[in-house]
Amino acid sequence: MDIPEPERICLDLRTEYWDDARARAAFKTFISNIHGLDFSAWDEGGFWDPAYTPFSFFRGDTVVSSVCIYLLDVVINGEKTCLAQISGVGTLPGWRRRGLSRELTELGLARARNKHNGIFLFADADAVPYYGRCGFSPIDEFIETTQVTPVPNCGGLIKLDPGLPQDLEMIHEYAKRRTSVSDRFGVLNDKLLMFHVLYRLRDRIYRIPDLDCLVSYARTGDKLSVFDIVAENMPRFEKLYPYLASADDRIVEFHFSTDKLELLKPQRKPLTGNNPMIRGVFPVEAPVFPYSSRA
Ligand SMILES: CC(C)(COP(=O)(O)OP(=O)(O)OC[C@H]1O[C@@H](n2cnc3c(N)ncnc32)[C@H](O)[C@@H]1OP(=O)(O)O)[C@@H](O)C(=O)NCCC(=O)NCCS
Repeated sequence: MDIPEPERICLDLRTEYWDDARARAAFKTFISNIHGLDFSAWDEGGFWDPAYTPFSFFRGDTVVSSVCIYLLDVVINGEKTCLAQISGVGTLPGWRRRGLSRELTELGLARARNKHNGIFLFADADAVPYYGRCGFSPIDEFIETTQVTPVPNCGGLIKLDPGLPQDLEMIHEYAKRRTSVSDRFGVLNDKLLMFHVLYRLRDRIYRIPDLDCLVSYARTGDKLSVFDIVAENMPRFEKLYPYLASADDRIVEFHFSTDKLELLKPQRKPLTGNNPMIRGVFPVEAPVFPYSSRA
């Protein structure tokens, strides 16, 4: 449905407004209202990323609809390239079903054309039909797993606390000089990694000085889930595992492709629940989306 002209005239289309403190605050309020996510920790930590570009309709000082295009520096099959992730999508309830979100998506993607090699997003379950109407299709996502025979833990793992300025700074230093977690598919944006460090991975960041790396993992029963390894020189799994080992471990799952870990026979397993979707050709077949690629 088209918006009647007088209402439409009230909407200002804005992009690249992060330097405007009022507009940025309005965006943060919008995201908090739509997604229940408070970006303040990311912002105040100094990790707000200009590569995360908003396309928003404002009514006065209020964002009524918005879409962000996040240009990610990635490594795919050994080559550095770029992907566009669509994120921060929403329209205020009173403004829905008027074509605003689609218009912003098309505009953002048109601006980003020629700057990337593929488009993807992770949809909330309720938003999958909407993205379908906008030309996106689901893509299967995988994780990798391996069986382990427990080995004695060798010690030497230090838990970091992103709430402490010195730990946060150290994590960011690692993030800036990291190489890709995988040659097959890895993401390099340090500021996006810092988002995960401050939110989803906050209690799961460890440093292994012997291997000069950070590792993020969690354990449930006999399963060890490894979310990311942040290093200039990725250790082989055989070297890494003694630092993480527990007597109960039977299986390790990896939320990234394990080519650099030199596992003997990694298995692939479908991962459900994140609803990844793509538009057009995506350059990675049967992708293991790196955990820290999600914006
Ligand atoms: C999903 C959302 C962004 C859609 O915004 P919107 O401005 O209403 O979308 P549009 O009007 O541009 O819709 C484009 C098309 O999708 C359809 N559509 C919109 N919402 C839909 C829904 N929930 N289910 C099915 N189709 C939907 C529209 O009817 C339109 O279809 P058309 O091809 O017949 O014209 C909005 O409902 C929202 O903010 N939801 C809550 C937050 C959310 O889910 N964000 C995405 C998280 S990944």
